[in-house]
Order: sequence, then C-alpha cells, then structure tokens
Amino acid sequence: MGRIDNRVTVITGGASGIGEATARKFVKEGARVVISDIQDEQGQKLAKELGENVTYIHADVCLEDNVKGMIEHAVETYGRLDCIVNNAGMGGVKGEIESVPIEGFDQTITILLRGVFLGMKHAAPLMKKQGGGNIINISSVAGLRGISQNHPYSAAKAAVIQLTRTAAMELAYYKIRVNSICPGSIVTSIFGAASGMSSSESVKTYENLIHLFEKGQPLRRAGLPEDVANAALWLASDESSFVTGHALVVDGGVSAGQQWTAQMRWIDMIESTLGLDPSE
Ligand SMILES: NC(=O)c1ccc[n+]([C@@H]2O[C@H](COP(=O)([O-])OP(=O)(O)OC[C@H]3O[C@@H](n4cnc5c(N)ncnc54)[C@H](O)[C@@H]3O)[C@@H](O)[C@H]2O)c1
Repeated sequence: MGRIDNRVTVITGGASGIGEATARKFVKEGARVVISDIQDEQGQKLAKELGENVTYIHADVCLEDNVKGMIEHAVETYGRLDCIVNNAGMGGVKGEIESVPIEGFDQTITILLRGVFLGMKHAAPLMKKQGGGNIINISSVAGLRGISQNHPYSAAKAAVIQLTRTAAMELAYYKIRVNSICPGSIVTSIFGAASGMSSSESVKTYENLIHLFEKGQPLRRAGLPEDVANAALWLASDESSFVTGHALVVDGGVSAGQQWTAQMRWIDMIESTLGLDPSE
C-alpha cells in the first residue's frame, strides 16, 4: 500500500527537476499523476516511462485556458482531482534594480505568481465539490529572505507564500489544505536554463553544481529534487492532515541563521573595529 494510493495529482512543470522527482515519488506511493509542462517531448517521455497511471498534457501556466484545460484533462482521465502541485518556474530576470527590463519583470511574475494563482483558481472549485483536496505551491527561500539582484523572483516567491496563506484561510472550511514549500539550492536544470541551456544540456552541469552546493548551507551536502519531493509527499499525505497555511522550508539550514564560523568572523571584525583583542 502506498502513502497516497489512487490520489489524482496534477504537477505543473513536471517534466524536469523538482516536478519530475515529485511525479516519480507520487507514482511510487500509489498516486495517479498528470504531468503538465511546456517541454512536451520530455514530459511525454517521462509519462511513458512512469506507466499507465501517468499522463502528460501541454499547459503553459501563464495562460488561463491552458490551466483550465489541464484540470479538465485530469478529471476526464481519472474522474477527480485530489491534489495539485503548482511547481512550474524559472530563474527569472536578474540584475540591479535600475537595469531590470519591465518585460522581464512581468514575465517572471506571470510564470511564478500568476501561474500558481491560476492553478489554485481552477483546482479549488472541483475540490470544494468533492469535499476536500490538497494544494501545494512551490515557493523558495528567496521568498523568505531578500536576495540582491533577484528582485522579481524573490518578490514573486514571497507573494506565493502569502497567497498560500490567504487560500488556506478561505479553503479550510471546505477541507482543502494549502501549503507551500521553500526549497534552498537544489540541483536542477533551472540554473542551466538561466544561461539558455535546455534541460537535457543542463544535466551535464549537475556534477559541478553538486560540488558547489555541498558548501552552500550548514548541512554539508547538495540539496536534491528528491528532498523537495519528500516534503511534497508528506504534505499530500494524511500524515500532515492538521497542517495548512504553512511554508515548509527544505534548505539544509541556510535560512535558519548565520553559521558559527561566519558569526565568529563577524564578532572578530566588530571587536577589532572597537580596538578590543578578540582572543581575550
Ligand atoms: N532548483 C532550486 O534551487 C530551486 C530553489 C527554490 C525554488 N525552486 C522552484 O522550484 C520549481 C521547480 O524548479 P526546478 O528547480 O525543478 O527547475 P526546472 O527547470 O528543472 O523545472 C522547471 C519546469 O517548469 C517548466 N516551466 C517553465 N515555465 C513554464 C510555464 N510557463 N508553464 C509550464 N511549465 C513551465 C519547465 O519547462 C521545467 O520543466 C520552480 O518554481 C522554482 O522556482 C527551485
């Protein structure tokens, strides 16, 4: 028996990275899954590999008719909708605030924020009718902390956390739980994509990313898509049935505080500025 047997789950951006790992994990735990994405070849290949309980549909999360069609496809195929993981995303336009082009700002906000909003907008009515459901929105630690030169991405991810809370307040009455996940640095093709690489090309950079990310947080190993998929599985299962409106951080400790060595360096700098001997 799986932890989410027969639960019908839609995963946006499910063709690669965190979405792909979530699809794999959910199928293993008994779910029936609709993978949606704009990378059709990759999404179709994954759906075929995962077997009879998985289908693929093209859906650009920026477009309301695509999102509506994606939800209708889940119901036509499996008869219901138990869970949606609003995961589709990209790195977003970066740069100093005065250099950010407004088109890039709008595009980042549209994919990362409107995409999540549309997923909830079209999933909620069905879940209400069915008497319950589960919504999981992928935010980021960038939504919890300000990250320099990452303005629209950080702002959109912070808004996803708040949208999760407002929806959780409204939908709790209907037994619909709404939570977000805030991953730290996770080895996926999002980093390569930011430099114009396709998902398959990005895979070649994973070894380098793993070495880099091993040093990036208090837990000295790289964050992997499966780490986020495990958190999504817990939120989708009955094990978290008293949890809603929560932002679940999966970041190896990076947002918990300052590491001891960095803290000690800072204290040394303060003491030497004050003319004190840090060793006393
Ligand atoms: N990798 C990280 O370090 C990290 C950290 C924090 C948050 N996140 C978030 O996790 C989510 C998944 O990212 P990932 O790291 O797995 O990257 P990824 O590039 O491997 O996967 C993102 C997927 O979203 C799809 N996508 C992009 N635009 C879309 C659109 N308009 N409509 C539908 N699908 C679209 C892509 O085709 C891709 O398959 C994103 O929301 C991202 O912001 C990632």
